[in-house]
Amino acid sequence: MSIAGRNVVITGATGDIGLAVTSRLLAQGAHVFAVDLNSETLEKLRHDSSGNGVLETHVADVTDAAQVREYANRAYSLWGPIDGFVNNAGIQTPVRPIVEFPEDDFDRVIAVNVRGVFLGMKYVLPHMRDGGSVVNMSSALGVVGGAGIVAYVASKHAIIGMTKTAALEQGSRGIRVNAAAPGPIAGKMTFKLAEEVFAGTSKSFAETVPLGRHGTPEDVAGLVMYLLSDDSSYATGTTHAVDGGFTTA
Ligand SMILES: NC(=O)c1ccc[n+]([C@@H]2O[C@H](COP(=O)([O-])OP(=O)(O)OC[C@H]3O[C@@H](n4cnc5c(N)ncnc54)[C@H](O)[C@@H]3O)[C@@H](O)[C@H]2O)c1
Repeated sequence: MSIAGRNVVITGATGDIGLAVTSRLLAQGAHVFAVDLNSETLEKLRHDSSGNGVLETHVADVTDAAQVREYANRAYSLWGPIDGFVNNAGIQTPVRPIVEFPEDDFDRVIAVNVRGVFLGMKYVLPHMRDGGSVVNMSSALGVVGGAGIVAYVASKHAIIGMTKTAALEQGSRGIRVNAAAPGPIAGKMTFKLAEEVFAGTSKSFAETVPLGRHGTPEDVAGLVMYLLSDDSSYATGTTHAVDGGFTTA
């Protein structure tokens, strides 16, 4: 699955999953345009990165249309048509049942996870090469419910709907649009959620999946690399689980 020399834009590039994907892309010689809200972690990425690829970093808030247009334009003007887009930035909130869920938290999650993914496709797709590939980061919680995290669940279901819609619209250009659906991945997001969900117990999400362990960011990166590459050339509009069997039961 050669990705060398391809131009790939990734949002949320300095999070746990974003870093694993970015590292893998750089190791394989891709040109990576790494977008994140956090300028310090982008600076650290610039400092720490290695591999044959080329890295460019860009600070942007994926909820802001002008900033999204700017990162898409900049990536295109640097390297020309974009081959791959990993629409990955996302957030979670404190756990509350729907009847107590703060409206502000709901709006914030929808802004990043739904509006951010929509804006990303809106402004990156016109700069993509025909035959390119988009990977939208959904979740296992995009196909099942999750008590206490209504906004996150709603947002990740919405990403799957947007993925199918974009696949229908972009098929004539040969652009494939798929969703990745990770289960509990060892990292900040999962561990913070576990602190609340399993408070006062020694349980972890590892026990909730058939494979009996957390996934790793590298597990997700493997799937993303496949979806970006020509190995998945007949897959579009689909949702690919990388969840240790979490959604099997
Ligand atoms: N970690 C998991 O278990 C898991 C499971 C399923 C899906 N996911 C999804 O994978 C994606 C990455 O998750 P992660 O575990 O790496 O989380 P993370 O919190 O480690 O990383 C998220 C990244 O997104 C960036 N970000 C947040 N808001 C932003 C904004 N408005 N504009 C630009 N960047 C912004 C953050 O700065 C951070 O670098 C998310 O969409 C998440 O919902 C994660």
